[in-house]
Amino acid sequence: ADALKIGVAGLGTVGASVVQLLEKHAGQIERRTGRSLTVTAVSARNRTRDRGIDTSGFTWFDDPVTMAKEAELDIFVELIGGEDGPAEQSVRAALSRGVHVVTANKALIAKYGVDLARVAEENNACLNYEAAVAGGIPIVKTMRESLAGNEVSRVYGILNGTCNYILTRMEAEGISFEDCLADAQRLGYAEADPTFDIEGNDTAHKLAILTSLAFGTEIDADSIFMEGITSITTADIQAADELGFRIKLLGVAQRTDTGIEQRVHPTMVPKSSAIARIDGVLNAVAVDGDYVGEIVLVGPGAGGNATASSVVADITDIARGDQTPVLGMPATDLVPYERARMRLHEGGYYIRLS
Ligand code: HSE
Repeated sequence: ADALKIGVAGLGTVGASVVQLLEKHAGQIERRTGRSLTVTAVSARNRTRDRGIDTSGFTWFDDPVTMAKEAELDIFVELIGGEDGPAEQSVRAALSRGVHVVTANKALIAKYGVDLARVAEENNACLNYEAAVAGGIPIVKTMRESLAGNEVSRVYGILNGTCNYILTRMEAEGISFEDCLADAQRLGYAEADPTFDIEGNDTAHKLAILTSLAFGTEIDADSIFMEGITSITTADIQAADELGFRIKLLGVAQRTDTGIEQRVHPTMVPKSSAIARIDGVLNAVAVDGDYVGEIVLVGPGAGGNATASSVVADITDIARGDQTPVLGMPATDLVPYERARMRLHEGGYYIRLS
């Protein structure tokens, strides 16, 4: 068969790593999938920036939407980011002409996932988004494929590398919130707008996707109770420590008597728990399935190379001809989360994970 033609839209940290990985492991990928893959087109605003990759052989598009509409492609890889604008328009344009899409864009999937899944299905195209949830951890594939036989009662975890990195360094080194955030930005972990990390939106986007995969519900990020980590101080962390807890920003989705509850907030987790030992940019996702029991996946939740690993996994699935359905069955039992909090000390309220 001919080589699959790939177009990469967005050449930031992740995009550059994807191009590099595909080239470095081209032989292995071909042996594993039976197809050779070649990046033929790229799109980014700045043509001259040094990204550590050779882009001279690619057809260059300034506008990703034009690339999605006009380039001769089998797979369109969206790494632009943002829930509206060129990311959404280009993904829609690619799917509409039957071009498979791989995206790392959690905001896009959280907002338009159901709609885009429909467009994908109508055009017999794949819409894969492993990299959208927990960076390098293969949780989407695990939920869609490996755990497909289970009824899930709860899925929760540390879903934002930037926040976990900040909390870890505040605790271990007593460094201020602002300095930790600046380092996370320098290391390429944070979102273009880091308020999405620290206010909890990014975790909420990922949780909404996990909820849909776990419970077959329609993605609904807007109903998620959300509190970020901006009010956490080193004093809070110390107080939790004295009580035998660590503070982690968790996203939790669980089945309750009244429906599926989704929430994002700083949480006191017992130091003895597995989740308490997840440090730095690592993420962890725990899933309770009725047959498997609880499984926990741990790995880097952000960063160019780890995220590229997931993007390329999605590409190789398409190369193999895998057509796993995009989402779970839509349902209507999403309920807003009622605040249930434990007062810890003046000015700080935390909830414990039971
Ligand atoms: N800003 C995100 C994080 C990137 O820190 O986890 C991965 O989605």
